Amino acid sequence: MAKQPKTEYPPSAEYLKRAHIDSYEKYKKAYDRSIKDPEGFWGELADELDWYSKGWDKVFHWDKKECRFTWFKGGKLNVSYNCLDRHVKNGLKNTAALIFEADEPDQSRTYTYAQLLYEVQRFANVLKSKGVKRGDRVAVYLPMIPELAICLLACARIGAIHSVVFSGFSTDSLYNRVVDCGARVLVTSDGGFRGGRHIDIKGKVNEMLERETDVETVIVVKRTGTDIVMEEDRDVWWDDEMAKASPVCPCEEMDAEDTLFLLYTSGSTGKPKGVVHTQAGYLLGAMLTFRHAFDYRPGDIYWCTADIGWITGHSYILYGPLAEGATTLMFEGVPNYPDNGRMWEIVEKWKVDVFYTAPTAIRMMRKTGDEWILKHDLTSLKVLGSVGEPIDPDVWRWYYEVVGGGRCPISDTYWQTETGSHIILPLPGAYPQKPGSAMKPFFGIEPTLINEDGSPTKTGEQGRLVLKKPWPSCARTVWNDHQMYRQTYWEVYPGYYFTGDGARMDEDGDIWITGRVDDVISVAGHRIGAAEVEAALISHKSVAEAAVVPIPDEIKGEAIYTFVTLKQGFEESEELVKELITHVRKEVGPIATPKTIQVVDELPKTRSGKIVRRILRKIAGGGDGKDLDTSALVDPNVIGALVKGRK
Ligand code: WTA
Repeated sequence: MAKQPKTEYPPSAEYLKRAHIDSYEKYKKAYDRSIKDPEGFWGELADELDWYSKGWDKVFHWDKKECRFTWFKGGKLNVSYNCLDRHVKNGLKNTAALIFEADEPDQSRTYTYAQLLYEVQRFANVLKSKGVKRGDRVAVYLPMIPELAICLLACARIGAIHSVVFSGFSTDSLYNRVVDCGARVLVTSDGGFRGGRHIDIKGKVNEMLERETDVETVIVVKRTGTDIVMEEDRDVWWDDEMAKASPVCPCEEMDAEDTLFLLYTSGSTGKPKGVVHTQAGYLLGAMLTFRHAFDYRPGDIYWCTADIGWITGHSYILYGPLAEGATTLMFEGVPNYPDNGRMWEIVEKWKVDVFYTAPTAIRMMRKTGDEWILKHDLTSLKVLGSVGEPIDPDVWRWYYEVVGGGRCPISDTYWQTETGSHIILPLPGAYPQKPGSAMKPFFGIEPTLINEDGSPTKTGEQGRLVLKKPWPSCARTVWNDHQMYRQTYWEVYPGYYFTGDGARMDEDGDIWITGRVDDVISVAGHRIGAAEVEAALISHKSVAEAAVVPIPDEIKGEAIYTFVTLKQGFEESEELVKELITHVRKEVGPIATPKTIQVVDELPKTRSGKIVRRILRKIAGGGDGKDLDTSALVDPNVIGALVKGRK
């Protein structure tokens, strides 16, 4: 049973002054109610949003058989109104909503709530002038610049569904996502800046649009001023269109259950899934978890280092903070430009109160050396956050001591693209923290650990993490593929949402996430489907078969190790391996770059021809092949050669 944990990291008396929930009893009372009476609990919290009408019959409705559920259906609201207009009306018009810290240190820009609203209304009118209507999809392929935030809020304002593609994805990944969602308008830029270098964006868009898509209009932000090809009748400049647009655009009244956005994410299949999030439940989840994970207080400067191309940026750079009326900082650049102290220079310059990043970045900073941190005054920091992968206790302690100066609790927030907002996290003021544990469920979340066969695990044993019942910000479906949604999330262990992660629960009821149990690899906290990389490799003329597994990596958490067999007429060579790596980068994107490619004669297979990845994982990870269960293999003799040829 859940208990108050005892550790050496309790919140300080000073910290408790800012905590929204400052005792375990308060957390427990609210949590218990959220489980016993979810409708009453969330029904009351819905008042935290501004509604045109709260016309719902039922707060929550769940059709278990169809795996469909709704929250606040019939209620009408607008997300952009909740993120902007209401704050402008309530005294925040002159407060910074968005601080943009550019790649070059001296080029920051700040938007107050009133300014951001002005830009959003204009761009909403631009979208309308291009024929975008409620329910239409708008594809967005932009680097981390303010126009990205403006564009998403403008979509929300007119009820269009945005689908952001991370600007680091390749032409092919962009193409698949744009085609799947049927977007007719694409918003992009000429290029981007990262670490003082130009990043090509429009070139990739042009290449993608050589193929058949529904895209009729491309709106291009001028960021770098590089010479690019603009296609007449299709491509227009953001600035030209904005200059013509009226700054008044009324909000569409959206149903709580209308789709707000799609975001594609990787799973066990070769095809990324368009995860569908809706309006009210998503926004409420993002806003409340933002408030509680970081104990946000008015006047704080909050910085999440993620890219808006991922869910963390959607929920915790944009929607959560802005719904809460916070000041959110967005950073275009990288941690080591112009030097290794860049992150800390930003914290010092803006007097950042809340800093939220990923373990992979923390490991990198630790490796770079404490001197870069100690050079800067970081005393403004009050809370730290971690997201995307398990944080090792040692790394946690370093983050706590060196970055946080031993003052700042760490919110190790566990969640997923599909969960919309944090689901398991330590509430920083409510109880002491355990380095490396995501600790306790947020309101409305009932985590359970089960064995592969569905039986409950014992205390301390690793199991599969499943959740009872849907919560407000849970994804509703997969775009154009409800069947895939059912099979992936609700039918693996009937009656439960399956996270795809392994975890264990200790004697205090605290949860320790151990990582994915499916074929998803987490490179620097980014989800990459093994099947996607395999599909990319197989599309190369030389490759007959490919099997992709994760191996531990000191900085990135996991790296990609691939085994390939070659078609007849091809031979292993350094050039070929290089070519295959380049091919994967081009097909999927640089985030999926294989660390190692081992060319083999044969892969371990079952009698039915299935590649046994479990064995390959062990071999890639350094096993000698002696303790492997090879009983399922057609030919156990392949193991020796695999071990011998390991790179
Ligand atoms: C992993 C990112 C351990 C997990 C928000 C999950 C974590 C996947 C944590 C989702 C954490 C995320 N501790 N593991 N605090 N946060 N994960 O969809 O494996 O990009 O399933 O969402 O990241 O990745 P996604």
